[in-house]
Amino acid sequence: MTIFVTGGAGFIGSNFIFYWKRQHPEDRVVCLDSLTYAGNLSTLKDVLKQPGFRFVKADITDRKTVWQLFEEEKPEVVVNFAAETHVDRSIEQPEVFLDTNIKGTAVLMDACRFFGTGRFHQVSTDEVYGDLPLDRPDLFFTEETPIHTSSPYSSSKAAADLLALSYFRTYGLPVTISRCSNNYGPYQFPEKLIPLMIANALHDKPLPVYGTGANVRDWLYVEDHCKAIDLILQNGRLGEAYNIGGHNEMKNLDIVRLICRELKKPESLITYVADRKGHDMRYAIDPAKIHQELGWLPETKFADGIHQTIEWYLTHQEWWEEILSGDYQNYYNRMYGSRLANGGQL
Ligand code: NAD
Ligand code: DAU
Repeated sequence: MTIFVTGGAGFIGSNFIFYWKRQHPEDRVVCLDSLTYAGNLSTLKDVLKQPGFRFVKADITDRKTVWQLFEEEKPEVVVNFAAETHVDRSIEQPEVFLDTNIKGTAVLMDACRFFGTGRFHQVSTDEVYGDLPLDRPDLFFTEETPIHTSSPYSSSKAAADLLALSYFRTYGLPVTISRCSNNYGPYQFPEKLIPLMIANALHDKPLPVYGTGANVRDWLYVEDHCKAIDLILQNGRLGEAYNIGGHNEMKNLDIVRLICRELKKPESLITYVADRKGHDMRYAIDPAKIHQELGWLPETKFADGIHQTIEWYLTHQEWWEEILSGDYQNYYNRMYGSRLANGGQL
């Protein structure tokens, strides 16, 4: 079988490719990625030379190229990870989120329709449900929770979900959707909370916590996400969305403190900065549907996963140092320079 993995040079897509090559070595994997700032070909260096793997630098909004690749490869399955994914960047510049996340998804689905592809899986997010209040720990996102987005990022992902469901109903396209909570693990781009805090702590730089750090996220080890998508591809019902999350809610401040402890760095590095606009308070997934229908349960405990992740960043310093030394510094100065009350530089 040939599987297209879009966005495979990013964090979750690359982990999915490694997972797929281990679990389904007989399959041909074709990775389509336009290598934006978040895509890194060096992440894929071990699979690049393997038989049954092809990397193509391609933009999913580029209909002509996408068509050509479908014509050449005739994939049976497409898993769409390609997206603009950082909420803060979407607040700064929404337009590219609309292009990639909405139009790009439509182009891929049109190609699936045209070439009769057996499955289109859309990798979505729990952010489409908006947020939950901190004082109602009894509330969780189910697949029935209304879509209620907060940021341009989550709105673009919600639009793509709705489009995917409409392609199922209108054209009978064999679509499934997964909505996962926050992932952590190797190869996550250092603009996201956990790798950013690890990198800053290792450089003895301030650890910029938005607001009071009371916001809650529901953390899942990236490989558990990959396994869940595999199960959905095997046995998921068409036209359905599946929530993925492991009941592992943690306050941002507690995550940052834990990283300080693991790296033996002082908590005095923690610096409270201006809050994210429209900042979602709490995410919490109810994974009952995927558990009951497909038998999925997370396997990695947070204490083990975060320890392994910190170890990975310690032993792969060249991977993220290279990113920090490039254009990322301009982003960091722009994004964090204005967050301090006194206008100073972090
Ligand atoms: P990422 O930002 O690390 O990687 C995104 C990848 O997509 C990059 O390799 C980038 O080059 C590629 N890409 C971007 N625009 C493209 C385009 N127009 N054409 C082709 N490739 C393009 O993202 P991630 O964290 O790995 O997230 C992957 C998917 O999972 C996204 O759809 C995201 O919405 C979803 N998701 C992420 C999380 C999380 O915690 N990171 C949780 C739930 C869902
Ligand atoms: O829930 C799934 C989503 O998780 C995915 O759909 C997104 O693609 C992914 O980026 C992630 O979104 P978040 O906004 O939750 O992740 P981020 O790592 O940006 O932030 C996590 C929390 O930490 C959030 O409450 C904001 C806070 N934060 C983040 C950064 C980068 C800080 O306090 N300081 C920071 O410097």
